[in-house]
Amino acid sequence: MKKIVVLTSGGDAPGMNAAIRSVVRTALHYNIEVFGCKHGYKGLVDQELIPMNRLSVANTIQMGGTVLKTNRCEGFYKQDVRMKAARFLADQKIDGLIVVGGDGSFRGASKLRADGGPPVIGIPATIDNDIFGTDYTIGFDTARNTALQAIDRIRDTASSHDRDFMIEVMGRNTGFLAVEVGIAGGAEFILIPEFDLPIERLAERVKNLSKHKPTSIIVVAEGDKPGRSMEIAEQLGKLTDKFYKVCILGHTQRGGSPTAMDRKYAAMMGYKAVHALIDGESDKMTAIHRARIELAPFPDPEKDFRRFDDEELIKMNVVICH
Ligand code: ADP
Ligand code: F6P
Repeated sequence: MKKIVVLTSGGDAPGMNAAIRSVVRTALHYNIEVFGCKHGYKGLVDQELIPMNRLSVANTIQMGGTVLKTNRCEGFYKQDVRMKAARFLADQKIDGLIVVGGDGSFRGASKLRADGGPPVIGIPATIDNDIFGTDYTIGFDTARNTALQAIDRIRDTASSHDRDFMIEVMGRNTGFLAVEVGIAGGAEFILIPEFDLPIERLAERVKNLSKHKPTSIIVVAEGDKPGRSMEIAEQLGKLTDKFYKVCILGHTQRGGSPTAMDRKYAAMMGYKAVHALIDGESDKMTAIHRARIELAPFPDPEKDFRRFDDEELIKMNVVICH
């Protein structure tokens, strides 16, 4: 292993910089030349490699976002575009690639490999924590703490005014973020795509709860429809006499300085990813399993989906909050 490339792809997540830093410093430790590719896969297509040294990643561990920038590259879904990127990497004598991103980015990575690209290792990074095969993805802890702070602030207004609030958090198709911040923020209701609660049943429960609680907070996962909390609040208004004020946290959850947990896992994953390439591995990601780091195969897009399935936690929250 003489020359490797690291890139960030898909949605940015806090801790991506800490992962890049770890990859760069570990590679240099083993006398491996390391390049950063700007703008995710688009940078492979546009040939945007920059040499990285120890100083290139100095003072970045605490920064949110990604210094290499990221992108959702439409062109990469096409085989001829990926083959062009693979040829470019071969011309540059790149013998390993590390992709920091979500499962979409890993799909792109295995296809690039199949189309002649170098061995590739993924580092899972998304605030959604929804990648099959790992208990944890970089960015999740920061996002849940950011959302929790927002809920705590909203609670001040809710209790001062005796107002009801509906807070929408991110999570494409999954409720991991919503469940964590809902429980930690003391939300009376947590609505996630995995466990659908029909609006009539929700309205009934809201009415019952309002007999002994002046206000309530509902945390809603955006699911596949960002902004869906507006619709739910409107329907609830028709079925009850409650007027829920809606607050969509949106991209405030994506940025910000990573927490200690995200920085630590990012450091461990960057280190592990470089070792994996040195050991001749490919098409695998660094994964956390029972708090230990290991390598896991890239999820199979046909059958490997990670969805929130711990219904007991939702039931527990009802007991505690109602
Ligand atoms: P994430 O990595 O956060 O899940 P996306 O699903 O948007 O984000 O994927 C990031 C990028 O990875 C896409 O913009 C595209 O360039 C590449 N990608 C995703 N899925 C595929 C695929 N099936 N084939 C080729 N490239 C893909
Ligand atoms: O996958 C991370 C995530 O933040 C999701 O929670 C959200 O649905 C999506 O990305 C939004 O992505 P973007 O704003 O980059 O299109």
